[in-house]
Amino acid sequence: MIDPYALDWLALALRWFHFMMGVAWIGASFYFVWLNNSIRPPSPAQEGVAGGLWAVHGGAFYEVRKLQGAPARLPEVLHWFKWEAYLTWLSGFALLVLSWWWQAGTRMVDPAVAALSPAQAVGVGAGTLVLGWLVYDGLCRSPLRRHGAALGLLLLLFSAGVAWGLSQVLSARAAWMHTGAMLGTWMAANVLFVIIPGQRAMVDALVAGAPPPVERGAAGALRSLHNNYLTLPVLFVMISSHFPSTWGHEHGWAVLVGLGLVGALYRHWVNVGERGRPQPLVLVASGLLLVALGFVTRPAPAPVAAPGQAAVPLTRVQQLVAVHCLGCHSATPLQPGFPVAPKGVVFDRPEDIERQAAAIHQQVVQTRVMPLGNLTGMTDEEREIVAAWVQGRGATP
Ligand code: HEC
Repeated sequence: MIDPYALDWLALALRWFHFMMGVAWIGASFYFVWLNNSIRPPSPAQEGVAGGLWAVHGGAFYEVRKLQGAPARLPEVLHWFKWEAYLTWLSGFALLVLSWWWQAGTRMVDPAVAALSPAQAVGVGAGTLVLGWLVYDGLCRSPLRRHGAALGLLLLLFSAGVAWGLSQVLSARAAWMHTGAMLGTWMAANVLFVIIPGQRAMVDALVAGAPPPVERGAAGALRSLHNNYLTLPVLFVMISSHFPSTWGHEHGWAVLVGLGLVGALYRHWVNVGERGRPQPLVLVASGLLLVALGFVTRPAPAPVAAPGQAAVPLTRVQQLVAVHCLGCHSATPLQPGFPVAPKGVVFDRPEDIERQAAAIHQQVVQTRVMPLGNLTGMTDEEREIVAAWVQGRGATP
């Protein structure tokens, strides 16, 4: 058994690294999208030059030229952009294994959703990544590749289906994370299997003096376009842990699809704007959808206590917390694997419980993610007692 504290630091280092590489990848790819969109044909026209632009940044001027086709000879130093993508995926995958597959029993399995064994849950997660890629890649190679909009719609439906399917077998958060991991896998695999090999074929053709492989260029462009629209939805999944009302919603998969659309629409607005054809309505649609989702995911107001119904005393909740929470959420946790209280949340003193009533309500009643993996077997009746107590003190969030 590895020291849980060491595992925690491993997760810290991996998450930080994942974030760094993600920022580098997305930064570079957004920069190139911007560059391509912003470049304008030279005037007067220049032989072999498709366009160019000037930029000033960090105290220097930069002149960029985009060529029609390939340069006459291969430059000595040619920069490729691929390691950011590979390392983002590798660190993300390691994090998935460490934080989810390794702890599948408590984090991926939710007995209230489906009675899977931890191994089955990991199988579902791994299968989603592999099969998801095979389906996506197959669709991108089919004749549909020439019908961008239809393909895009089909991919949206497929992703929605995966999110829904996972939500029928895994815990709500695990379903979200694995949908995000599948989309992130498409992005990185696009770079590894299609975009970079296509560029290599281009370079080889240049060296051999052969005509550039047009078909492979088109395939790479399609995958780059998908990556561009997938970026913001995947980024949201990364930060979604902070927002239990999203994945914790009873139709969390639909909320994920909705938020994914918000991100993709926003990205579309940026893309067309950069090309000099601003479409403000797209931005409005993205914003309105975000606001609408905010309303949809708002928790239903708690029912008003019947007159004469006795308020639940704090001491009753204290008993429940002692049984179901203190194992982990204490200054000195007794639950193996928890050297410190998760997220620093402790309920040792009655005033700790009082103060965090809203958070307790959210975790125990609304999203039901606590007690973690329901290790202690908290019953629905007990959750109702917590709900009644919170409501009685008028602190229902
Ligand atoms: C087996 C250990 C365990 C038990 C038992 C447990 N928790 Fe947690 N709790 C966790 C972990 C792990 C996290 C951090 C989850 C994460 O990273 O999102 C957490 C996080 C929380 C948070 C903070 C959520 C946030 O995102 O800020 C609250 C509040 C909470 N738990 C309440 C409870 C309550 C109330 C109970 C008892 C009904 C309980 N927990 C039982 C392990 C446990």
